[in-house]
Amino acid sequence: MKRLQLGVLASGRGSNFEAILKHIDAGRLLADVRALASNRTSAGALKIAERRNIPALVLSRKDFSSDEMFDQEILDFFRKNEVDFVVLAGYLRLLTAVLIQPYKNRILNIHPALLPSFGGKGMFGHHVHEAVLDYGCKVSGVTVHLVDETYDSGPIILQRCVPVQNGDTPDTLAARVLKQEHQIFSEALQLFAEERILIKGRRVYVQSS
Ligand code: GRF
Repeated sequence: MKRLQLGVLASGRGSNFEAILKHIDAGRLLADVRALASNRTSAGALKIAERRNIPALVLSRKDFSSDEMFDQEILDFFRKNEVDFVVLAGYLRLLTAVLIQPYKNRILNIHPALLPSFGGKGMFGHHVHEAVLDYGCKVSGVTVHLVDETYDSGPIILQRCVPVQNGDTPDTLAARVLKQEHQIFSEALQLFAEERILIKGRRVYVQSS
């Protein structure tokens, strides 16, 4: 077992960030949140960090000359706060090698559908649920996956199905999916804390405890 020292990246509301904090408080996830960084001054996640006295960094891409310089600032902030594992909790930017290399196989993202369907550029928020409903899917779900330099494409750690119901709107489906997100993200992180994840190429094996 190894207590994860988390650095969280979030662009929005922050309900997944908050759920992680609650699982830590309840002793279900062996981790500390060391730092939060956001690319949006309006992100709800920043308020959560403030309430919890978690060091926070807000930065805007337009203040940097490249994506790499932007990520370097985040990397420096995470290193200063001794982050050893990164969580993308509703973070809408693609990461560069500047962050991916130092945290290789130690960056997780959560996606509100069953990848590899309904992922990729532009597939975020209600766009995902709208596409699932438009396709006529009877099942959607949640995917927690490792992050690489392409949107939603890294090896999958955990997935969970969520039924689509008659009369669902993007909002009702999103709410049902979000409920599962708040569980499965911390479950996936706990598997890393328990050192039970074995990665071989795209294949991820969960070793028994
Ligand atoms: C979630 O639906 C997550 O799957 C996606 O972005 C959303 C973030 O929601 N990546 P929140 O900010 O955690 O409430």
